Amino acid sequence: MPTLLQLDSSADLTGSASRRLTARFADGWRTRGHRVVNRDLFVDQPPHLPTNALHWAPALRLPAESVAPADEAYQTQLIEELLNADVVLLGAPMYNWSVPSTLKAWIDWIHVPGLTAPAGADDPAPLGGKPIVIASGRGLAYGPGTGMDDHELAALTQLFAGSMQMTVYPVLAELTLAGRVSDLAPRAADGAASLAAAEAEIDRLVAELG
Ligand SMILES: Cc1cc2nc3c(=O)[nH]c(=O)nc-3n(C[C@H](O)[C@H](O)[C@H](O)COP(=O)(O)O)c2cc1C
Repeated sequence: MPTLLQLDSSADLTGSASRRLTARFADGWRTRGHRVVNRDLFVDQPPHLPTNALHWAPALRLPAESVAPADEAYQTQLIEELLNADVVLLGAPMYNWSVPSTLKAWIDWIHVPGLTAPAGADDPAPLGGKPIVIASGRGLAYGPGTGMDDHELAALTQLFAGSMQMTVYPVLAELTLAGRVSDLAPRAADGAASLAAAEAEIDRLVAELG
């Protein structure tokens, strides 16, 4: 049965745009009779990486480096969730032009050169070609014509596509702060249109990947 790994990281458990989009994708996935595995990185927060050695595959660790068995087991669990998924769905709100710290902590556990990413040109890429849908809510608008660069999606694309060789499908809901910040109130219709377009893209991706 095709398995979706659904990861959420928004600290907003009631009005989150990224959670709304990931829930919509997961509902569509279940409707097809497929399986969903959940990991909520805000509710069940990963600790910071306890040692530099865990960034490297065991074969690439230096002789003086060691890791605690419990940490190795936790890392193995997170990585196996990724390897066992047919599709990965990542809720990644923009926090301070970057990802939430909970998501960054998870990334530090699962991006392991020599294991989940090639460390050299001849190394395998075990996650190569695996689809990852990145659903991101952001308060403002970014990209061409806005005068603001999207460093969050750029970093996530570098990580998942550039290093881990996954296939990235970004879905962005912008101007989510139009209902909260008075300066953005005139852009409320643009924010609603962005969310509607993101929902349509989610539905299209469920049909394409499910
Ligand atoms: C800690 C924090 C930092 C934020 N930083 C930014 C930011 O740098 N740029 C931005 O456009 N919005 C920023 N926002 C607004 C969020 O991106 C916005 O509320 C978005 O909808 C969050 O995604 P969510 O709706 O899935 O929770 C920030 C919000 C929080 C809570």
